[in-house]
Amino acid sequence: MSSIDTIIRTAPAESCTPELAQGPWTFDLGTPGYGPGASMGDVIPTGSPRQGQLPGEYQRASNDELHERIRAAKATLGERVVVLGHFYQRDEVVQHADFLGDSFQLANAAQTVPNAEAIVFCGVHFMAETADILARDDQAVILPNLAAGCSMADMADIDSVEECWEQLTALYGTEPDAQGRVPVIPVTYMNSSAALKGFCGRNGGIVCTSSNAATVLEWAFERGQRVLFFPDQHLGRNTAKAMGVPLERMPMWNPNKPLGGSTPDDLADARVILWHGFCSVHKRFSVDQIARARAEFPGVRVIVHPECPMPVVDAADEAGSTDYIRKAVAAATEPTTFAIGTEVNMVNRLAAEFPQHTIFCLDPVVCPCSTMYRIHPGYLAWVLERLVAGEVINRITVSPEVAADARIALERMLAARPTV
Ligand code: 13P
Ligand code: SF4
Repeated sequence: MSSIDTIIRTAPAESCTPELAQGPWTFDLGTPGYGPGASMGDVIPTGSPRQGQLPGEYQRASNDELHERIRAAKATLGERVVVLGHFYQRDEVVQHADFLGDSFQLANAAQTVPNAEAIVFCGVHFMAETADILARDDQAVILPNLAAGCSMADMADIDSVEECWEQLTALYGTEPDAQGRVPVIPVTYMNSSAALKGFCGRNGGIVCTSSNAATVLEWAFERGQRVLFFPDQHLGRNTAKAMGVPLERMPMWNPNKPLGGSTPDDLADARVILWHGFCSVHKRFSVDQIARARAEFPGVRVIVHPECPMPVVDAADEAGSTDYIRKAVAAATEPTTFAIGTEVNMVNRLAAEFPQHTIFCLDPVVCPCSTMYRIHPGYLAWVLERLVAGEVINRITVSPEVAADARIALERMLAARPTV
């Protein structure tokens, strides 16, 4: 077996523990945790949603039985239900999705299903909250496993952001400059709670995704002297750097330190203030892995997600959202070797879908996004069968006050065309 075969064939087997893949319900009770996977070392905020015990019949059912039950429930519900799936979901779940996409596309998809009474979101908590904000009041958004959070989104909470804002307001004041630009525009990555999207909506800010971050930063620079970007420092840094913002004008904000750990001088000169957040899955990719891939496969095309650290994005050939990565592979006309730096479920699916290419994940022992992995067909069958019985379970609701503010920031984003 060549080493590329080794990389491709050993990736799923080495993806952390089989319990997460086969029985995520073992993590629903007992010690709270994201479950084994790349986010297992992250701190889970108190008060995070917990998933109660999945009924035993779904835990014991074989995969074939679960697929049959999901198909039957969907057929009974017809247009009353729509199932949305993020690219990082496992194949067993993706096969039941009516829409598959990145977080920007799924936010749009949630708005295009007027007949659906229920939107079952096979993604993570912040995505389901976003769908609820954009959906009609009489549409129920359901997250099949309430423990499917996002460790990066959990790295910025509303209290810490409000506290940061108070300190920045004390430092910069509130007066616009001669061009009418306010001192700071808050920009939150889609991977954040509804409360933070609401914060942006009521403070002149906006939401971005990895597919429109540059467009959104341009929007913000037209209106503000500087940007407070949360929670992902890497997406903020990579995007602003590509737009020509020097690194010394991007101080970090660590919420546990006064003035975020920066000096007033650093902050006075700042163009983008970066929150101290990151994705544990994308943090694993390294320049060494890229160097090894290039040494072993001359001509390899390296594409990474912009949540990767800056040196990794700099060493790659291209960086872009999950949809960008998919389109880049689909558009390659000649057989190509691709080394990809993003979640392994998506990379393995691309490898299966485009056999004319050689496609592998940059990290041969990558752990999947453990929070996305909390959704197993057992939970999907459970929520759909309860819907057939007339019961809505695992509904995600954002309070009307928060939703009204968050919708303003999201609608600004939806008007910003994806650039990558
Ligand atoms: P996309 O916006 O590219 O779908 O990514 C979402 C995400 O969570 C990546 O880690
Ligand atoms: Fe969150 Fe990272 Fe998982 Fe994306 S891959 S949902 S940022 S933990």
